[in-house]
Amino acid sequence: MDLQSTARPIRITCARGLAGWLEQEVETLGLAVEDRDDSGVEVSGTLADAMRLNLHLRTAMYVLCLLDEFTCLSADDLYRRTSFVPWEALLDPDGYFSVMAHVDSPAISNDMFAAVRVKDAVVDRMAEVVGRRPDSGPQRDRAVVNVYWRGDTCRLYLNTSGRKLADRGYRRMPHKAPMQETLAAGVILATGYDGREPLVNPMCGSGTLAIEAALIAAGRPPGLLRDNFGFMHVRGFDEPIWQRLRQEARKRSVPSVPGRIIATDIDERAIAAARQNARTAGVDQLIDFAVCDFAETTIPQGPGVVVLNPEYGQRMGVESRLESEYARVGDFFKQRCGGYRGYIFTGNPGLAKKVGLRARRRLPFFNARIECRLLEYELYAGSRRKPDL
Ligand SMILES: C[S@@+](CC[C@H](N)C(=O)[O-])C[C@H]1O[C@@H](n2cnc3c(N)ncnc32)[C@H](O)[C@@H]1O
Repeated sequence: MDLQSTARPIRITCARGLAGWLEQEVETLGLAVEDRDDSGVEVSGTLADAMRLNLHLRTAMYVLCLLDEFTCLSADDLYRRTSFVPWEALLDPDGYFSVMAHVDSPAISNDMFAAVRVKDAVVDRMAEVVGRRPDSGPQRDRAVVNVYWRGDTCRLYLNTSGRKLADRGYRRMPHKAPMQETLAAGVILATGYDGREPLVNPMCGSGTLAIEAALIAAGRPPGLLRDNFGFMHVRGFDEPIWQRLRQEARKRSVPSVPGRIIATDIDERAIAAARQNARTAGVDQLIDFAVCDFAETTIPQGPGVVVLNPEYGQRMGVESRLESEYARVGDFFKQRCGGYRGYIFTGNPGLAKKVGLRARRRLPFFNARIECRLLEYELYAGSRRKPDL
């Protein structure tokens, strides 16, 4: 099986709500999107394309190269068809691999069972053809095979990412309720921020939005931060191509940007964590951190972007405290952020109403299973603002 020089279908998965941003990113990289659904997009490409996608994509979860697709009606079909794949061309017989299975079929009720059948088929074939077999287990830090079996169709993929791409490696100190890195990147892309104007992020928590904004502004692909991907553990991994892709990406990124990024939080432990995370991500020089109430955050001359992710707890009691916080965010936008585009990311539409401003756009996102909105407000500069009645 030649993944190096023959283009094959590649499925790029993402968290729900991010597929539109993912599609834009993929097209910007020059690959044609052939299909898109809620959980990802499809393109065609070689293993080198997969490496480039792993390096650059900000909103993707996994980059999966299709190995085989077949009709599958039973666990025996799964075993038999999996053993037709020339695994010896992909896996090191002395290495290690892991299988991730997602099954939605009446034939079996258990993802684990499907994963075990695929693992058995792989190792049995390797033992027969090569005389040795790789170890296998739950660790995703080496070769990874993904199985999607829905209805009577089963697809086997080589997971070229390994661990999910949201794990950039910079967030060693997560603090409270951190946003997943891929979601934060999607939110920043949705604001249109490109580093030419200031970006202000009060209530920054562990700094994920500010750090993703800095990576975007500096043109720094998130994959430069990681030193381990699934494709590195596949036979024939072309290290020189990977090093060239990294070098080109480094050359294109810039050390400074015209628009400052300001990130604040009332909790000094959050700022300590955010600072450390930004340092690990190599973008601390692009972000000014401060400990303060959000309403005291320094706002540079606009135009610019101000984005907040306040808590949106739905427990009784918490909600009434948050209602007044959301109302204060509305006042802050009106009184301090004239000339900016204001954004609030929240999973609680009731609280969002307390902001007291009319949202120009309400962009849908999901934070884990919670349906959220990124609310966009146009905050007119002084003279254009209607007087409060
Ligand atoms: C939902 S978390 C933000 C998480 C962040 N997006 C991340 O990825 O880590 C909300 C943050 O708001 C902060 N916060 C709450 N009330 C605040 C206030 N009045 N002023 C400033 N920060 C506040 C909390 O300390 C917390 O870090």
